[in-house]
Amino acid sequence: MSLVFKRKSVRKYTDEKVPDDVIENLLKAGMQAPSACNQQAWEFIVVTNEEDKKAISEMHKFATPAANASHLIVTLGNLNKAKAYRMIEQDLGACNENILLQATHEGLGAVWLGFHPVEDRTLKLKEYLDIPDYCIPFSVICVGYPAHEIPVKLRYDESKVHFDRF
Ligand SMILES: Cc1cc2nc3c(=O)[nH]c(=O)nc-3n(C[C@H](O)[C@H](O)[C@H](O)COP(=O)(O)O)c2cc1C
Repeated sequence: MSLVFKRKSVRKYTDEKVPDDVIENLLKAGMQAPSACNQQAWEFIVVTNEEDKKAISEMHKFATPAANASHLIVTLGNLNKAKAYRMIEQDLGACNENILLQATHEGLGAVWLGFHPVEDRTLKLKEYLDIPDYCIPFSVICVGYPAHEIPVKLRYDESKVHFDRF
């Protein structure tokens, strides 16, 4: 089975810190994603500070995994660098998934916390991390070494597949 079938959301981590070169590999994987017109209009904020992780974990009720993660990777869409700006969310989705798959490959646990397009969440993140108006705070990815194993459940559902017409 490929990495795709091994990835799952991991929300509890050990205290072990993820080395810088491994974080760099996650960023390289993110930047390797496909993007509309190859615009690559993404930016990343790597959050390492405990106080900042705690503050982000309190920004919405599903953000609690941020508090115990080794690092947070905030993914942003830079509208100043976008050529096909209406596609930027899709670019960032591909970028996020690449980061999650690379995290699986590195033996890490990770979870994607949704921020964009929920306005109150993105405003809190923008204000807290000094994100300029031309950047969309897309998501926060929590990464760390998994505190426990999570079994994978396969989801293939033949009834959702249509050949030739719906
Ligand atoms: C757009 C998006 C937003 C998500 N937001 C959150 C979140 O805020 N908090 C969280 O714990 N998980 C979040 N998740 C993870 C999903 O809950 C998870 O992917 C889903 O339950 C399926 O489980 P799996 O990732 O283990 O396959 C999000 C996933 C996506 C794609």
